[in-house]
Amino acid sequence: MSKFNTNLVHGIPCKENKTGAVNPPIYTSTTYAYPNAESAVRWDYARSGNPTREFLENQVARLENGDRGFAFSSGMAAIHAVLSIFSPGDHVVIGDQIYGGTFRLFNQFFKRWNIEFTAVDTRDSAAVKTAIKPNTKAIYFEPITNPLLHVTSVRAIAEIAQQNNLLVIVDNTFLTPYLQQPLNLGADIVIHSATKYLGGHSDVIAGIVVTKSKKLSDKLYFSQNAIGGILSPEDSNLIRRGIQTLSVRLDRQLLNTQKIVVFLQKRNDIKKINYPGIVGTPEHDVAKNECKDFGAVLSFEVQNINVIKFVNNLKLFQLAVSLGAVESLAELPAKMSHAELSAKELLACGISPNLVRLAIGIEDADDLIVDLEQALNAAK
Ligand SMILES: Cc1ncc(COP(=O)(O)O)c(C=O)c1O
Repeated sequence: MSKFNTNLVHGIPCKENKTGAVNPPIYTSTTYAYPNAESAVRWDYARSGNPTREFLENQVARLENGDRGFAFSSGMAAIHAVLSIFSPGDHVVIGDQIYGGTFRLFNQFFKRWNIEFTAVDTRDSAAVKTAIKPNTKAIYFEPITNPLLHVTSVRAIAEIAQQNNLLVIVDNTFLTPYLQQPLNLGADIVIHSATKYLGGHSDVIAGIVVTKSKKLSDKLYFSQNAIGGILSPEDSNLIRRGIQTLSVRLDRQLLNTQKIVVFLQKRNDIKKINYPGIVGTPEHDVAKNECKDFGAVLSFEVQNINVIKFVNNLKLFQLAVSLGAVESLAELPAKMSHAELSAKELLACGISPNLVRLAIGIEDADDLIVDLEQALNAAK
Protein backbone atom coordinates (compact mmCIF):
# COMPACT_ATOMS: atom_id res chain seq x y z
CA MET A 1 0.00 0.00 0.00
CA SER A 2 1.53 3.32 -1.03
CA LYS A 3 1.59 6.18 1.49
CA PHE A 4 -0.32 9.47 1.64
CA ASN A 5 1.99 11.75 -0.37
CA THR A 6 2.42 9.13 -3.08
CA ASN A 7 -1.35 8.80 -3.28
CA LEU A 8 -1.70 12.57 -3.56
CA VAL A 9 0.57 12.64 -6.59
CA HIS A 10 -0.54 9.50 -8.40
CA GLY A 11 -4.18 8.94 -7.47
CA ILE A 12 -5.45 5.65 -8.86
CA PRO A 13 -3.97 5.51 -12.38
CA CYS A 14 -6.63 5.16 -15.07
CA LYS A 15 -6.05 2.45 -17.61
CA GLU A 16 -7.38 4.39 -20.59
CA ASN A 17 -4.30 6.41 -21.40
CA LYS A 18 -2.71 4.95 -24.54
CA THR A 19 -0.27 7.83 -25.23
CA GLY A 20 2.08 7.71 -22.26
CA ALA A 21 0.90 11.15 -21.10
CA VAL A 22 1.74 11.40 -17.40
CA ASN A 23 -1.54 13.16 -16.60
CA PRO A 24 -4.99 11.61 -16.99
CA PRO A 25 -6.77 12.97 -20.08
CA ILE A 26 -9.54 15.56 -19.91
CA TYR A 27 -12.56 13.94 -21.56
CA THR A 28 -14.97 16.58 -22.78
CA SER A 29 -17.50 14.33 -24.56
CA THR A 30 -20.97 14.56 -23.16
CA THR A 31 -22.05 11.30 -24.79
CA TYR A 32 -20.35 7.98 -25.55
CA ALA A 33 -21.04 5.68 -28.50
CA TYR A 34 -22.39 2.18 -27.88
CA PRO A 35 -20.55 -0.51 -29.89
CA ASN A 36 -24.01 -1.97 -30.59
CA ALA A 37 -27.52 -1.42 -29.28
CA GLU A 38 -27.31 -4.25 -26.76
CA SER A 39 -23.87 -3.41 -25.31
CA ALA A 40 -23.48 -2.87 -21.57
CA VAL A 41 -21.28 0.25 -21.72
CA ARG A 42 -19.04 1.67 -18.97
CA TRP A 43 -19.70 5.29 -20.01
CA ASP A 44 -22.85 6.60 -21.66
CA TYR A 45 -23.67 10.19 -20.62
CA ALA A 46 -21.31 12.58 -18.83
CA ARG A 47 -23.65 13.71 -16.04
CA SER A 48 -23.88 10.05 -15.00
CA GLY A 49 -20.13 9.51 -15.22
CA ASN A 50 -17.03 11.05 -16.76
CA PRO A 51 -13.52 9.52 -16.67
CA THR A 52 -11.79 12.80 -15.72
CA ARG A 53 -14.24 13.41 -12.89
CA GLU A 54 -14.00 9.79 -11.81
CA PHE A 55 -10.22 10.02 -11.56
CA LEU A 56 -10.62 12.88 -9.07
CA GLU A 57 -13.43 11.09 -7.22
CA ASN A 58 -11.27 7.96 -6.80
CA GLN A 59 -8.26 10.06 -5.81
CA VAL A 60 -10.15 11.75 -2.94
CA ALA A 61 -11.97 8.56 -1.88
CA ARG A 62 -8.58 6.90 -1.38
CA LEU A 63 -7.16 9.88 0.55
CA GLU A 64 -10.18 9.86 2.89
CA ASN A 65 -10.16 6.04 3.11
CA GLY A 66 -13.76 5.94 1.87
CA ASP A 67 -15.83 3.71 -0.38
CA ARG A 68 -16.50 6.26 -3.10
CA GLY A 69 -16.02 9.94 -3.95
CA PHE A 70 -18.36 12.36 -5.73
CA ALA A 71 -17.36 15.67 -7.29
CA PHE A 72 -19.76 18.62 -7.47
CA SER A 73 -19.80 22.08 -9.03
CA SER A 74 -19.44 23.74 -5.59
CA GLY A 75 -19.18 22.88 -1.93
CA MET A 76 -22.82 23.96 -1.58
CA ALA A 77 -23.89 21.58 -4.38
CA ALA A 78 -22.08 18.79 -2.50
CA ILE A 79 -23.87 19.65 0.77
CA HIS A 80 -27.20 19.85 -1.06
CA ALA A 81 -26.66 16.36 -2.51
CA VAL A 82 -25.80 14.97 0.94
CA LEU A 83 -28.85 16.48 2.65
CA SER A 84 -31.02 15.18 -0.19
CA ILE A 85 -30.64 11.64 1.15
CA PHE A 86 -33.04 12.61 3.98
CA SER A 87 -36.85 12.68 3.84
CA PRO A 88 -39.56 15.04 5.04
CA GLY A 89 -40.01 14.56 8.79
CA ASP A 90 -36.32 13.75 9.41
CA HIS A 91 -34.34 15.78 11.95
CA VAL A 92 -30.63 16.64 11.85
CA VAL A 93 -28.52 17.98 14.72
CA ILE A 94 -26.10 20.59 13.35
CA GLY A 95 -23.12 22.52 14.67
CA ASP A 96 -24.05 26.05 15.76
CA GLN A 97 -21.01 27.58 14.03
CA ILE A 98 -21.20 25.81 10.64
CA TYR A 99 -20.50 27.79 7.47
CA GLY A 100 -23.18 30.47 6.97
CA GLY A 101 -24.06 29.22 3.47
CA THR A 102 -24.70 25.75 4.89
CA PHE A 103 -26.88 27.21 7.65
CA ARG A 104 -28.86 29.15 5.02
CA LEU A 105 -29.32 26.03 2.87
CA PHE A 106 -30.62 24.08 5.86
CA ASN A 107 -32.83 26.79 7.33
CA GLN A 108 -34.16 28.53 4.24
CA PHE A 109 -34.28 25.61 1.79
CA PHE A 110 -34.43 22.17 3.43
CA LYS A 111 -36.79 23.42 6.15
CA ARG A 112 -39.30 24.09 3.36
CA TRP A 113 -39.04 20.38 2.52
CA ASN A 114 -39.91 19.57 6.14
CA ILE A 115 -36.47 18.54 7.30
CA GLU A 116 -35.92 19.82 10.83
CA PHE A 117 -32.64 21.14 12.27
CA THR A 118 -31.40 21.83 15.78
CA ALA A 119 -28.20 23.85 16.13
CA VAL A 120 -25.97 23.07 19.13
CA ASP A 121 -22.40 23.62 20.24
CA THR A 122 -21.05 20.24 19.13
CA ARG A 123 -18.07 20.60 21.52
CA ASP A 124 -20.61 19.92 24.27
CA SER A 125 -21.52 16.21 24.17
CA ALA A 126 -24.35 16.69 26.67
CA ALA A 127 -25.94 19.37 24.45
CA VAL A 128 -25.66 17.08 21.42
CA LYS A 129 -27.31 14.20 23.31
CA THR A 130 -30.11 16.49 24.52
CA ALA A 131 -30.83 17.66 20.96
CA ILE A 132 -31.41 14.10 19.69
CA LYS A 133 -35.09 13.27 19.05
CA PRO A 134 -36.87 10.10 17.88
CA ASN A 135 -36.78 11.38 14.27
CA THR A 136 -33.09 12.43 14.34
CA LYS A 137 -31.15 10.86 11.49
CA ALA A 138 -27.75 12.55 11.54
CA ILE A 139 -25.28 14.89 13.22
CA TYR A 140 -23.70 17.43 10.84
CA PHE A 141 -20.71 19.54 11.92
CA GLU A 142 -17.33 21.06 11.12
CA PRO A 143 -14.48 19.76 13.33
CA ILE A 144 -12.85 23.23 13.15
CA THR A 145 -15.18 26.19 12.73
CA ASN A 146 -14.85 29.56 11.10
CA PRO A 147 -13.98 32.20 12.26
CA LEU A 148 -13.57 31.25 15.94
CA LEU A 149 -11.74 27.95 15.42
CA HIS A 150 -13.92 25.91 17.79
CA VAL A 151 -12.73 22.29 17.75
CA THR A 152 -15.15 19.35 18.00
CA SER A 153 -14.00 15.78 18.57
CA VAL A 154 -15.11 13.57 15.68
CA ARG A 155 -14.64 10.52 17.91
CA ALA A 156 -16.93 11.93 20.62
CA ILE A 157 -19.68 12.74 18.12
CA ALA A 158 -19.26 9.35 16.42
CA GLU A 159 -19.72 7.61 19.76
CA ILE A 160 -22.98 9.48 20.44
CA ALA A 161 -24.14 8.76 16.89
CA GLN A 162 -23.39 5.07 17.20
CA GLN A 163 -25.39 4.81 20.43
CA ASN A 164 -28.34 6.46 18.70
CA ASN A 165 -28.02 4.90 15.24
CA LEU A 166 -27.30 8.23 13.53
CA LEU A 167 -25.11 9.19 10.59
CA VAL A 168 -22.10 11.42 11.21
CA ILE A 169 -21.54 13.99 8.47
CA VAL A 170 -18.34 16.04 8.64
CA ASP A 171 -17.38 19.10 6.61
CA ASN A 172 -13.60 18.62 6.52
CA THR A 173 -12.81 21.69 4.39
CA PHE A 174 -10.51 23.32 6.98
CA LEU A 175 -8.33 20.30 7.73
CA THR A 176 -8.32 18.29 4.48
CA PRO A 177 -7.45 14.57 4.50
CA TYR A 178 -3.81 15.54 5.04
CA LEU A 179 -4.55 16.72 8.58
CA GLN A 180 -7.58 14.63 9.51
CA GLN A 181 -9.44 11.67 8.04
CA PRO A 182 -12.88 11.80 9.69
CA LEU A 183 -14.01 8.43 8.27
CA ASN A 184 -11.17 6.79 10.25
CA LEU A 185 -12.49 8.51 13.40
CA GLY A 186 -16.04 7.18 12.98
CA ALA A 187 -17.72 9.55 10.50
CA ASP A 188 -19.92 8.21 7.68
CA ILE A 189 -19.76 11.03 5.13
CA VAL A 190 -17.05 13.65 4.54
CA ILE A 191 -17.66 16.85 2.60
CA HIS A 192 -15.17 19.37 1.19
CA SER A 193 -15.45 22.77 -0.33
CA ALA A 194 -12.68 21.79 -2.76
CA THR A 195 -12.61 25.49 -3.65
CA LYS A 196 -10.26 25.85 -0.66
CA TYR A 197 -7.21 23.67 0.09
CA LEU A 198 -7.86 20.85 -2.40
CA GLY A 199 -7.91 23.26 -5.35
CA GLY A 200 -5.47 25.54 -3.53
CA HIS A 201 -5.14 28.38 -6.05
CA SER A 202 -8.36 30.46 -5.77
CA ASP A 203 -9.28 29.61 -9.35
CA VAL A 204 -12.01 26.97 -9.19
CA ILE A 205 -15.25 26.46 -7.24
CA ALA A 206 -15.82 22.77 -6.46
CA GLY A 207 -17.19 20.34 -3.87
CA ILE A 208 -16.39 16.75 -2.92
CA VAL A 209 -18.26 14.11 -0.94
CA VAL A 210 -16.72 10.84 0.25
CA THR A 211 -18.88 8.03 1.65
CA LYS A 212 -17.83 5.24 3.96
CA SER A 213 -20.23 2.44 2.93
CA LYS A 214 -21.61 1.06 -0.31
CA LYS A 215 -25.14 1.78 0.94
CA LEU A 216 -24.36 5.50 1.36
CA SER A 217 -22.43 5.54 -1.94
CA ASP A 218 -25.53 4.30 -3.76
CA LYS A 219 -27.63 7.06 -2.15
CA LEU A 220 -25.08 9.75 -3.00
CA TYR A 221 -24.71 8.52 -6.56
CA PHE A 222 -28.48 8.73 -6.95
CA SER A 223 -28.44 12.35 -5.66
CA GLN A 224 -25.48 13.34 -7.82
CA ASN A 225 -26.94 11.89 -11.00
CA ALA A 226 -30.56 12.87 -10.34
CA ILE A 227 -29.92 16.46 -9.20
CA GLY A 228 -26.99 16.87 -11.56
CA GLY A 229 -24.72 19.35 -9.78
CA ILE A 230 -21.59 17.69 -11.18
CA LEU A 231 -18.08 19.14 -11.58
CA SER A 232 -16.97 19.80 -15.17
CA PRO A 233 -14.09 17.74 -16.64
CA GLU A 234 -11.88 20.85 -16.87
CA ASP A 235 -12.50 21.81 -13.23
CA SER A 236 -12.10 18.17 -12.14
CA ASN A 237 -8.65 18.29 -13.70
CA LEU A 238 -7.80 21.52 -11.84
CA ILE A 239 -8.78 20.01 -8.49
CA ARG A 240 -6.86 16.79 -9.32
CA ARG A 241 -3.81 18.92 -10.08
CA GLY A 242 -4.25 20.99 -6.91
CA ILE A 243 -4.43 17.84 -4.79
CA GLN A 244 -1.02 16.71 -6.06
CA THR A 245 0.63 19.57 -4.12
CA LEU A 246 -1.73 19.59 -1.11
CA SER A 247 0.82 18.44 1.47
CA VAL A 248 3.73 20.58 0.24
CA ARG A 249 1.49 23.63 0.22
CA LEU A 250 0.05 22.87 3.64
CA ASP A 251 3.47 22.13 5.17
CA ARG A 252 4.56 25.69 4.29
CA GLN A 253 1.21 27.16 5.35
CA LEU A 254 1.40 25.40 8.72
CA LEU A 255 4.94 26.62 9.34
CA ASN A 256 4.00 30.18 8.35
CA THR A 257 0.96 30.04 10.64
CA GLN A 258 3.07 28.97 13.63
CA LYS A 259 5.50 31.86 13.04
CA ILE A 260 2.65 34.35 12.71
CA VAL A 261 1.04 33.11 15.95
CA VAL A 262 4.36 33.60 17.79
CA PHE A 263 4.59 37.14 16.36
CA LEU A 264 1.01 37.99 17.36
CA GLN A 265 1.48 36.59 20.88
CA LYS A 266 4.18 39.21 21.51
CA ARG A 267 2.01 42.20 20.52
CA ASN A 268 0.05 44.11 23.13
CA ASP A 269 -2.44 45.30 20.50
CA ILE A 270 -3.61 41.68 20.02
CA LYS A 271 -6.15 40.65 22.64
CA LYS A 272 -7.11 37.08 21.94
CA ILE A 273 -5.83 34.59 19.38
CA ASN A 274 -8.08 31.76 18.25
CA TYR A 275 -5.86 28.94 16.97
CA PRO A 276 -6.00 25.31 18.12
CA GLY A 277 -2.21 25.05 17.88
CA ILE A 278 -1.88 27.18 21.02
CA VAL A 279 -0.99 24.87 23.92
CA GLY A 280 -3.11 25.14 27.06
CA THR A 281 -6.48 25.60 25.39
CA PRO A 282 -9.23 22.93 25.43
CA GLU A 283 -9.29 23.26 21.60
CA HIS A 284 -5.63 22.22 21.48
CA ASP A 285 -6.19 19.08 23.55
CA VAL A 286 -8.94 17.82 21.23
CA ALA A 287 -7.13 18.78 18.03
CA LYS A 288 -3.81 17.21 19.00
CA ASN A 289 -5.52 13.85 19.54
CA GLU A 290 -7.36 13.80 16.23
CA CYS A 291 -5.42 15.99 13.77
CA LYS A 292 -1.93 15.76 12.30
CA ASP A 293 -1.63 19.56 12.67
CA PHE A 294 -3.81 22.55 13.47
CA GLY A 295 -4.53 24.16 10.12
CA ALA A 296 -3.56 27.44 8.52
CA VAL A 297 -6.49 29.65 9.53
CA LEU A 298 -6.49 31.76 12.70
CA SER A 299 -8.40 34.70 14.07
CA PHE A 300 -7.69 37.32 16.70
CA GLU A 301 -9.18 40.42 18.30
CA VAL A 302 -7.26 43.67 18.20
CA GLN A 303 -7.31 46.25 21.02
CA ASN A 304 -6.41 49.95 21.23
CA ILE A 305 -6.10 50.22 17.45
CA ASN A 306 -8.56 50.88 14.65
CA VAL A 307 -9.38 47.48 13.15
CA ILE A 308 -10.62 48.93 9.84
CA LYS A 309 -7.41 50.94 9.45
CA PHE A 310 -5.39 47.81 10.26
CA VAL A 311 -6.92 45.64 7.53
CA ASN A 312 -6.98 48.51 5.03
CA ASN A 313 -3.26 49.04 5.65
CA LEU A 314 -2.30 45.46 4.76
CA LYS A 315 -0.32 45.31 1.54
CA LEU A 316 0.63 41.66 1.04
CA PHE A 317 -2.39 40.09 2.71
CA GLN A 318 -5.34 40.65 0.40
CA LEU A 319 -8.62 41.68 1.97
CA ALA A 320 -10.86 38.83 0.81
CA VAL A 321 -13.14 36.03 2.01
CA SER A 322 -12.31 32.35 1.31
CA LEU A 323 -9.18 30.50 2.40
CA GLY A 324 -6.92 27.59 1.59
CA ALA A 325 -5.03 28.96 -1.40
CA VAL A 326 -1.40 29.87 -1.98
CA GLU A 327 -1.90 33.58 -1.23
CA SER A 328 -2.54 34.94 2.26
CA LEU A 329 -5.90 36.57 2.91
CA ALA A 330 -7.30 38.71 5.71
CA GLU A 331 -10.93 39.41 6.42
CA LEU A 332 -13.15 41.11 8.97
CA PRO A 333 -15.93 38.59 9.72
CA ALA A 334 -18.32 41.25 11.11
CA LYS A 335 -18.10 43.27 7.90
CA MET A 336 -17.41 40.58 5.30
CA SER A 337 -18.08 36.81 5.66
CA HIS A 338 -20.69 37.27 8.42
CA ALA A 339 -22.05 40.67 7.34
CA GLU A 340 -25.59 39.31 7.00
CA LEU A 341 -25.79 38.74 10.78
CA SER A 342 -27.18 41.55 12.95
CA ALA A 343 -25.00 43.10 15.69
CA LYS A 344 -26.98 41.04 18.23
CA GLU A 345 -26.48 37.80 16.28
CA LEU A 346 -22.76 38.51 15.89
CA LEU A 347 -22.46 39.04 19.62
CA ALA A 348 -24.43 35.85 20.31
CA CYS A 349 -22.00 33.78 18.26
CA GLY A 350 -18.94 35.48 19.73
CA ILE A 351 -17.86 37.53 16.71
CA SER A 352 -16.61 40.92 17.91
CA PRO A 353 -16.30 43.87 15.49
CA ASN A 354 -12.56 43.74 16.31
CA LEU A 355 -12.15 40.15 15.14
CA VAL A 356 -9.78 39.62 12.20
CA ARG A 357 -9.40 36.28 10.42
CA LEU A 358 -6.28 35.32 8.53
CA ALA A 359 -5.92 32.48 6.01
CA ILE A 360 -2.21 31.90 5.64
CA GLY A 361 -0.60 31.21 2.28
CA ILE A 362 2.78 29.92 1.14
CA GLU A 363 4.70 33.22 0.91
CA ASP A 364 7.79 33.84 3.07
CA ALA A 365 6.66 34.11 6.69
CA ASP A 366 9.03 37.04 7.25
CA ASP A 367 7.28 39.08 4.55
CA LEU A 368 3.87 38.27 6.01
CA ILE A 369 5.02 39.31 9.49
CA VAL A 370 6.51 42.57 8.19
CA ASP A 371 3.16 43.28 6.53
CA LEU A 372 1.17 42.59 9.72
CA GLU A 373 3.60 44.67 11.77
CA GLN A 374 3.46 47.73 9.53
CA ALA A 375 -0.35 47.54 9.29
CA LEU A 376 -0.75 47.23 13.08
CA ASN A 377 1.68 50.10 13.74
CA ALA A 378 -0.10 52.32 11.22
CA ALA A 379 -3.52 51.64 12.80
CA LYS A 380 -2.75 53.25 16.18
C1 LIG B 1 -16.50 25.08 5.66
C2 LIG B 1 -17.16 25.38 4.36
N1 LIG B 1 -18.03 24.50 3.83
C3 LIG B 1 -18.66 24.73 2.66
C4 LIG B 1 -18.44 25.89 1.96
C5 LIG B 1 -19.15 26.12 0.65
O1 LIG B 1 -18.29 25.80 -0.41
P1 LIG B 1 -18.35 26.51 -1.86
O2 LIG B 1 -18.08 27.95 -1.66
O3 LIG B 1 -17.28 25.77 -2.60
O4 LIG B 1 -19.72 26.26 -2.41
C6 LIG B 1 -17.53 26.84 2.44
C7 LIG B 1 -17.28 28.09 1.70
O5 LIG B 1 -16.64 29.01 2.18
C8 LIG B 1 -16.88 26.57 3.68
O6 LIG B 1 -16.00 27.45 4.22
